[in-house]
Amino acid sequence: MTLSRRQREVLHEMGIPVWVRRGPSGAESMASIPRAFSEPLHAPVPSAPAPVISSAASSPPVAELDWEALRTRVASCVACSELAPRRTQTVFGVGDPDADWLFIGEAPGAEEDRCGEPFVGRAGQLLDNMLAALGLGRGENVYIANILKCRPPGNRDPAAAEAAACRPFLDRQIALVAPRVVIALGRVAAQALLDTDVPLGQLRGEDRTYGGIPLVVTYHPAHLLRSSADKAKAWTDLLRARALMLRP
Ligand code: URA
Repeated sequence: MTLSRRQREVLHEMGIPVWVRRGPSGAESMASIPRAFSEPLHAPVPSAPAPVISSAASSPPVAELDWEALRTRVASCVACSELAPRRTQTVFGVGDPDADWLFIGEAPGAEEDRCGEPFVGRAGQLLDNMLAALGLGRGENVYIANILKCRPPGNRDPAAAEAAACRPFLDRQIALVAPRVVIALGRVAAQALLDTDVPLGQLRGEDRTYGGIPLVVTYHPAHLLRSSADKAKAWTDLLRARALMLRP
């Protein structure tokens, strides 16, 4: 993979060492992508219980909604009694509706709740840098969503019931985008998507799928802000995601 100067600069800013070797043409390239992985674990295809939604009793199921109707349904959801009354707004998701790359985080924080867009705080800036390092950009072949559409109070972890209630919305987004790869950002997203409580360290580095789509688990950008040492590992994960995506 040949890196542009901008990509090398971004990697440098992220604190990721860029190993270069000279090809026959003299072009610089990244170190090879890690070897192929063991047998894929197939995540159970999620069954989609219908979320409890106000005034939606006679509306079409979430799994049949188009983008506009889905956005409206999310905005009116009151399924979670602790989240709905406290939110400024729901945070639906952002990006290219036909993206190859789908990044899934945990839940909106204070800034996202205020702006209505995922990953707009410091963690979001790092995510943007990670995208730039891949030659991608927010909205350019990338869609970003969260497990939850509402901010949990005090940024606590999503409760299992909240994640389950919100899942049909996320599943519909995944179906509409039809990405070629899903990236689970952090423990909460990975455990929710894979329906497991296995620690993040054990979920990384293996080929997985979600609903038949290749799924790569990596660190949450907020974790990377605290633990720079893991940035190189996150970069390895992203290169693996790219390799999976390019697989015929
Ligand atoms: N962290 C997340 O997981 N999602 C956001 O949207 C913001 C921060």
